[in-house]
Amino acid sequence: MIKKILVIHGPNLNLLGEREPGIYGSDSIENLNSSIIDRARDQGLECEIFQSNHEGAIIDKLHAARNSFDGVVINAGAYTHYSYAIRDAIAAVKIPCIEVHISNVFARDEFRSKSVIAPVCKGSISGFGFGSYFLAIQALAEM
Ligand code: DQA
Repeated sequence: MIKKILVIHGPNLNLLGEREPGIYGSDSIENLNSSIIDRARDQGLECEIFQSNHEGAIIDKLHAARNSFDGVVINAGAYTHYSYAIRDAIAAVKIPCIEVHISNVFARDEFRSKSVIAPVCKGSISGFGFGSYFLAIQALAEM
């Protein structure tokens, strides 16, 4: 049973609210994080949130999670589209992992419609704004 989850925000997501608000909205990462904590609590889950702009730091966090978390929600940002290293880390740790995107990655630039992490994730949620994270949390809670 899933009890403790880790939410990972990848590169540039620290700038939510300022960054391309037409695509990502005008709400900050702080507001997103407090909603994530609330949603997780509502589902009976303990939740830690981590943000990094660095591929290696995300990989280190995934490795460290393998002994202490039951599920992961990851928005790998642009790494989604080309980081085989993050893909291998997700496969290595064997924790159920759900890929999320705020925007609909299939309705944007061609390069965004390919995810190299999707095949090693349980599933992917894209296009529901911050709601993508909430749907992923719900999915983990119901697993
Ligand atoms: C994103 C989509 C990616 O293509 C982009 O590089 C991001 C954010 C999203 O949440 O919509 O940084 O993952």
